[in-house]
Amino acid sequence: MDEKSKLNRRFFMKGAGATALIGSALGGSVALPQLASAKGMGGMGMSMTYDLNEEFNRIGAGDSKWDMIRKANRPYDVPFPMGVADMDFRTFPRITEALMTRMGHENWGYHPAPIDFYDNIIAWNKKRYNQDVKRENILNAIGVLDGVLSILLTHNKEAKPVLVQTPGYSGFFGIIKTAQFSALENPLKLVDGRWTMDLDTMAKQIDENDVKVMLFCNPQNPTGNCWTVDEMRAMGDLCLSKGVLVVADEIHCDFVNKHAKYTPYANIGAKYAQNSYTLKSTSKSFNLAAHHVAYLFSDNDDYITELKKHGHQRGSLNALGMIACNAAYKYGAEYMDDMRAYIDGNCHFLEKFCADEMKDVKYKVQEGTYLAFIDCSAVAKKLGKPMGDKRIGDMLKDFFIQKAGVNLNQGENYGQNGVGYMRMNLATTHRKLHGALNAMKKAIDAI
Ligand SMILES: Cc1ncc(COP(=O)(O)O)c(C=O)c1O
Repeated sequence: MDEKSKLNRRFFMKGAGATALIGSALGGSVALPQLASAKGMGGMGMSMTYDLNEEFNRIGAGDSKWDMIRKANRPYDVPFPMGVADMDFRTFPRITEALMTRMGHENWGYHPAPIDFYDNIIAWNKKRYNQDVKRENILNAIGVLDGVLSILLTHNKEAKPVLVQTPGYSGFFGIIKTAQFSALENPLKLVDGRWTMDLDTMAKQIDENDVKVMLFCNPQNPTGNCWTVDEMRAMGDLCLSKGVLVVADEIHCDFVNKHAKYTPYANIGAKYAQNSYTLKSTSKSFNLAAHHVAYLFSDNDDYITELKKHGHQRGSLNALGMIACNAAYKYGAEYMDDMRAYIDGNCHFLEKFCADEMKDVKYKVQEGTYLAFIDCSAVAKKLGKPMGDKRIGDMLKDFFIQKAGVNLNQGENYGQNGVGYMRMNLATTHRKLHGALNAMKKAIDAI
């Protein structure tokens, strides 16, 4: 097979119509996609238009996860970058098709949201999660964190410390700092291998610090918890009784492992919904982070009015981002189901690998997200004390990069109780994951 045909076979697209459009959009110079055989782990019903096992090469795009990490760690090679929370798969072909069609128009005047943009946001949340989103209460944001920033600036006017359950998403600390506020860590407690809420401590912290806002993550990055209705109601009752606003970042909601269930925070009861915002996007689910399209909403009309008046950016979005998001929600349900099954397979593989072959790393399949929070404290112990002012996580990171070519995120980035843990991104092919684990095992065995 010549090079061009090989490229054609790898460029999975659906239908000859799309193919013709893309060909004409780029002056006929782009290889025409062909149908390819679909493969996947665990016999899931994978569509014939994409192949999650495809070894897609991301090198050279100038991205954060691959190019930036590889450049920063020279002269070490990093064939397994498993840090930044995005995915290594080719994106859903219908998204590329929609983008290519628009690209072919070659005119970039003002462009409103596609006519069914909000309908598709509403339908996705209703069909998959039975979540009712009020059309008039959806606000665009150029990122979930940008939406969080607007909410903080609007609702934390007295500049009180902002509460975050830890280990908690590192970006929360960054955005709290950007807003010129301080973060207050409310540590989760490990009970029988699951990170659980400590509401007694939370109550004291709220009182002592006069907290007005908490950033809540569901499913939680990095622990992977999908919080139960009971857990959320207990937390929500506490927040209601103390006048604390709940900002529910549910960006990871589409990644839920087979044994688990995601319940939207706003679905646990009207009074909780009234005291909260929810933020979501297609950026994690369909790997569209570079497009900067997200949205937020609340059942509470006053909150939305308040946000519009005081803190929120205009919400004008990039045309390509809106088109990508729209195609994702409109056509991507089956792709998302396949993706979930694939990630579930990776999680179970990691669990078995740790239990059978890499006993110094402890891990139990998490409920949601594609992020594994692995306990590497036994490895850290073997490595000894970190040099200079390096943290244990820095020592572990250097070790895995230098000895195994694997990039992981330091547990301390997620809070003080993350020491000894590393965050590993499992949104990659099974083959890459296996390669990374073999390399890690070899490195640990050689200590
Ligand atoms: C919980 C959580 N929220 C927000 C973000 C960032 O979202 P955005 O890029 O839309 O600001 C991430 C990215 O990793 C995340 O994990």
